Formats: sequence, C-alpha cells, structure tokens
Amino acid sequence: MPRVGRLIEKGLNQSMHKPVLLHESIEALDLKPNSIFFDGTFGGGGHSNEVRKQFPMVKIIAIDQDPEVDAIHTNFRNLDKIVTQKVDAILFDLGISTLQLENSGRGFSFLKNEPLDMRMSGEGITARDILNSWDEHAIELVLRGFGEEKISKKIARAIIKRRKIKSFQTTFDLVETVLAVKPKSWREKIHPATKTFQALRIATNEELTSLEIGLEKGFRALEVNGRFAVISFHSLEDRIVKNFFRDKIKEKSARPITKKPIIPSAKEVEDNPRSRSAKLRVLAKNE
Ligand SMILES: C[S@@+](CC[C@H](N)C(=O)[O-])C[C@H]1O[C@@H](n2cnc3c(N)ncnc32)[C@H](O)[C@@H]1O
Repeated sequence: MPRVGRLIEKGLNQSMHKPVLLHESIEALDLKPNSIFFDGTFGGGGHSNEVRKQFPMVKIIAIDQDPEVDAIHTNFRNLDKIVTQKVDAILFDLGISTLQLENSGRGFSFLKNEPLDMRMSGEGITARDILNSWDEHAIELVLRGFGEEKISKKIARAIIKRRKIKSFQTTFDLVETVLAVKPKSWREKIHPATKTFQALRIATNEELTSLEIGLEKGFRALEVNGRFAVISFHSLEDRIVKNFFRDKIKEKSARPITKKPIIPSAKEVEDNPRSRSAKLRVLAKNE
C-alpha cells in the first residue's frame, strides 16, 4: 500500500473519495495476472488499490497531476515521458476528487470560502488570474464553452463590472457576483454558480486539451488487445472520448467493448451522488 497522501490525510475525518464505477471499470480492463496497468488519475487510489487487491501481480504505474496525491506527479498529457513500454490497460477517471473538492483549500467548491486558485497541479495561471485579467469576451467564451452556461454574457459583464471596483480573491467573491445576476430561484435544479465554477476549473487546468492529448498518447502506448477505459463526468468530456473512440473504431484500429456507455446503478447513485453523471467508455486496440 502506498504511504497515505497528504490529501487523504487531510480528508480522514471528512468525506473520503468514493471510487466511481469501480467494479465495472476493473472488469472492463480485462487484466491478467501479469498485466501492466496505467492509472492516469490516481486520486485517492480507489481504482488502483482495488486492482492491487484483485491482481497482486499486476504492475501498476500511477500518476496524478496533483502534488498532494501519492503518485508520480504529472499530467497524463505527458504520458509518453512516463510510459516507456507498452501497457495492457489504461484508466482515466476524469475531473476532480472529493478530496480536492472538500479538503484542498484551493477553491474548487462554491460552498466554501477559499482562495480562488483551482489549479490541480499547483502550476500555471489561477482562476483568480483569469477573472482579474482576461477580457470580457474571453471570459464569456469560457463560461459558455466550458460551462454551457446560458447567461454567460450577463455573468461575464458582472465579473468585469465587479473587478473594476474590487479584484476577485475568494470563491465567495465569485459566488456573490453570480448570484447577483442569477438568483437562487433560477429555474435550474443545481446551484446557480455550478456551471461558472466548472467552466473556470476546466479553463484553469486546460482539461479538455489535456484529455485530447492524453487519449492519443495513451492509445499509442497500448498493447494490441489492450483496453482503454475512460470515466467522464460531463458532456464536454464525454463528447471528446466518444469522438476519439469512434474515430479509432472507424479506422479499424480499435473495437468497442462498451457499445453504449456504462452508467452507475441506482444504488451507486444513492450511495454516492457524485457518481450520477458518470459515463464509462471502453475500447480494445486491434492488431
Ligand atoms: C476523479 S479523481 C480520480 C479518483 C480515483 N480513481 C480514485 O478512485 O480514488 C481525478 C483525479 O485525477 C487527477 N487528474 C485530473 N486530470 C488529470 C490529468 N490531466 N493528468 C493527471 N491527473 C489528472 C486529479 O488531480 C484527481 O486527483
């Protein structure tokens, strides 16, 4: 077992990360006793630890871009630097962990007043930088493109107006700004700031670009008949995975293992509401 990571330590008295679609994804990876497994998103180690339990002989290469996670620290867009031999199975369990959301202090949650950082890797521009320096059109594009926010224009305008008076520092600065133009009574069931926060997190971490690069590099590193499993949590991610898999299948370099994405059972959603939007897609590489 790996040493307990800092994020896990911090989370011990709070809610831990519950791995999503755990058994479905491990079954789909079709591991053999001596397989090599690449976990591109180690997080709380839920999937890797279950692999270790079921297949003690499997060689696991685990990375995570978060420096507080106990794995090799890098983005899966740099997978080719880490994986120097072919691997038999790859898992990307995308997005953010419960540990990051609740215990990182980096401003991922609109329910906690924290510095507006949102960097998973601790490097590069912060969400605060985007809000305080990007122009209105660029911010509007982020909200619309990465959050599918319907009133992106209104929110972008409110952001610019506010920062002329006072710069953005904490999550509640942003929540207040969103609530002023999108009150709680808004017709959506989710919190009014949900889409704005999702959009900023994706932009700060360049998540969609990383996914496109990671899928390509992962597929190249895969052994013939190797399995590639991806769990996504929103439509933008899922569209990229779906199109990538479709193209590989069309050009006959891969075959589908899941014809339709696997989704969590009603019981899993009840036990772990965070799993409700999860979709698992799996393919196998051809000769
Ligand atoms: C949903 S969690 C994974 C949870 C893990 N499977 C478990 O069961 O404990 C996603 C993790 O992937 C990491 N991550 C997200 N995008 C990444 C990327 N492009 N490269 C490396 N790690 C990434 C995040 O830092 C986070 O720790």
